[in-house]
Amino acid sequence: MTAPAVSISEQDADALGGDDSILMRQRRDHARLDAMMNRCLSEDLPPGELDALWMDIVQLVFSHAFAEETVLWPLLRRVSPDGEELTRQVEAEHQAVNDLVARIERSPDDPRRAEWIRQAFALIRQDIRDEEDELLPRLRTAFDDRKLRRIGAAWEAVRATAPTRPHPGVPRRPPGNALRGVPLSAFDRLRDLAPGSGPAARRASLAAAGVAAGGAVVLAVRSARRHG
Ligand SMILES: [Fe+2]
Ligand SMILES: [Fe+2]
Repeated sequence: MTAPAVSISEQDADALGGDDSILMRQRRDHARLDAMMNRCLSEDLPPGELDALWMDIVQLVFSHAFAEETVLWPLLRRVSPDGEELTRQVEAEHQAVNDLVARIERSPDDPRRAEWIRQAFALIRQDIRDEEDELLPRLRTAFDDRKLRRIGAAWEAVRATAPTRPHPGVPRRPPGNALRGVPLSAFDRLRDLAPGSGPAARRASLAAAGVAAGGAVVLAVRSARRHG
């Protein structure tokens, strides 16, 4: 009998493999997201700040989730007997967030927008609970501290070049997600930049971003598999 999983929210940095481990990196991102969502919903948010805050949340949510699907969940499926079932559940949550955010972005003037945003935040909070309470403790059980730090580095490398927008048609699992998602990340990152660069500069940075993104994902996934 295996002991029931202890949520990573109830353990300190030493027990989670140190500050650079995947578990501490996940916890920091989740806390940041939580604070940004609270601020977004707060009554005293200045009207001009909402759009920028929403964009920051979207960028963090999608790059964070893409790197999970590329690096973490394939490892979890290999080391945990219930990994398939657990990762299928969070992939469904990611897909639901994806569909909802895509709808919100497509319909800026829809009166249901505020309600959809609240629904998206509820889904993100559910995803965070499932990960911290169920999925990530299983990585703690399966890997030593050194490997948790290596997985953290691989996850961070993929996240740095991951898509930052919703792409509902992109598969949630490798290799399909990387093959279809990584080229789109270059376009996302260009759209995230303030407009103003000329077409030539845009083409150059697009090519550079595409090459960097593809390379980082391939290297990080190989490294995570090797050390997993
Ligand atoms: Fe997460
Ligand atoms: Fe997630």
